[in-house]
Amino acid sequence: YVTNGEGVQRADFVVVANRLPVDLERLDDGTERWRRSPGGLVSALEPFLRARSGAWVGWPGVADADVSPFTEEGLRLHPVRLSATEMRDYYEGFSNGTLWPLYHDVVVPPAFHRSWWNAYVRVNQRFAEAAAEVAAPGATVWVQDYQLQLVPAMLRERRPDLRIGFFLHIPFPPIELFMQLPWRTEIIRGLLGADLVGFHRPGGAQNFLWLSRRLAGLEPSRAAVGVRTKPGVVPFGDRVVRVGAFPISIDSAGLDALARRRDIQQRAREIRAELGNPRKILLGVDRLDYTKGIDVRLFALRELLEDGRVDPDDVVMVQLATPSRERVEHYRQMREDIEREVGRINGEFSRVGRPPVHYLHTSVNREELVAFYTAADVMVVTPVRDGMNLVCKEYVACRYDLGGALVLSEFAGAAAELTSAFLVNPHDLDGVKNALHAALTVDPAEGRRRMRALRRQVLTHDVDRWARSFLEALGSQPHTE
Ligand code: ADP
Ligand code: F6P
Repeated sequence: YVTNGEGVQRADFVVVANRLPVDLERLDDGTERWRRSPGGLVSALEPFLRARSGAWVGWPGVADADVSPFTEEGLRLHPVRLSATEMRDYYEGFSNGTLWPLYHDVVVPPAFHRSWWNAYVRVNQRFAEAAAEVAAPGATVWVQDYQLQLVPAMLRERRPDLRIGFFLHIPFPPIELFMQLPWRTEIIRGLLGADLVGFHRPGGAQNFLWLSRRLAGLEPSRAAVGVRTKPGVVPFGDRVVRVGAFPISIDSAGLDALARRRDIQQRAREIRAELGNPRKILLGVDRLDYTKGIDVRLFALRELLEDGRVDPDDVVMVQLATPSRERVEHYRQMREDIEREVGRINGEFSRVGRPPVHYLHTSVNREELVAFYTAADVMVVTPVRDGMNLVCKEYVACRYDLGGALVLSEFAGAAAELTSAFLVNPHDLDGVKNALHAALTVDPAEGRRRMRALRRQVLTHDVDRWARSFLEALGSQPHTE
């Protein structure tokens, strides 16, 4: 690092994301502590960035927190302050009440409020200012996700010397849906401030190219964009914006190694015993989000129990659900619906000490999570829409024993890579029931064949490869410590 005039340490490689990789937690007794932030973005980027000398600009997760920059295990963290009103209008409002549902196929109706948009512009401006301050001359700045789509153009305005990348971690919607957004042109112009705009899937890149013609009057390339193939290009003034597809992944080798540890294996056996040593364990692991289709898998399980195709003496489902966006109305409603359904299934099918569904409204640590993956016979991942979904890849990385089966929604970005999973349409309840049943009863040799194919994909396409391919396309390679 070098230090600028105001004493801020400047870095050659800067990640800008809504959240820092750690969240400040305010406890009831008035004390504060840091803990790992929720979600796939942090799971993916943190191991990559820890191995490099970089800085991370982000929000500490609570309103009105005045925190000075600090270094955490070699990573330089630069907190951006949000007021309580900004948290409501920018984060809960425009990011998670407008963009999140719009980009996830309007699973719930997005709300369009000018006051939310104004807050989004203001906060994006603040992130751009913070990034401009932290970036060394000629540095690479990598802006992340839907909360910060205006930052690339705002940052370029301040610092034309920087190399700017942008990656969207959620789906980029079909054109017809994007066109509903009153501020669609501003968003496209914001993204065009980057040198490289990345999406998980080629469809997202293709939609963006089309919109840059329609909304910004530019002349993008017409050739189809593939995964890690030649990116699309949009000539824009004296620059060229490149547009590509880069499917994100996980620290596959790290999880594989963790799963092989004897204490983790032991804990997995304990979990099975604590659940009453059922013949089969189904597992769901998600942020408690309406896009994840937690209700779908519960409906499917209830009907399988009702039909007598699943015996409650034999099969247990565990659902780990990380609390998420709890003040947003649709999230409250969904939590109530899911908890009612869990209560209904358990009310109808439990015996004393043997509920069919174990629902834990909590986040567990990495070791415990790997023990759950190891203990589970069937991993159930049924989002109605998901940019990628890392949980399914984590499960596969942990199954070095070639045990276990994966039921995966076709509407997760990961389905394009994990074609040996039991793929399902989450809108087709009979299809989900049949897939769960097939995964519960799969012939062991067939199960191993599928898991071997899944592992080949996940172990060779890890998060390091994702980040390197993005940064190579951006023309930048940060130095490894
Ligand atoms: P999203 O980014 O929408 O939350 P992903 O599946 O891409 O979805 O990433 C979720 C990440 O959060 C994964 O790394 C997963 O292991 C982690 N996670 C989700 N739920 C839990 C939980 N209950 N406890 C611990 N980790 C969780
Ligand atoms: O990409 C999904 C994502 O929205 C990330 O941007 C975010 O870090 C994660 O999910 C968790 O959501 P939140 O930050 O709103 O708790």
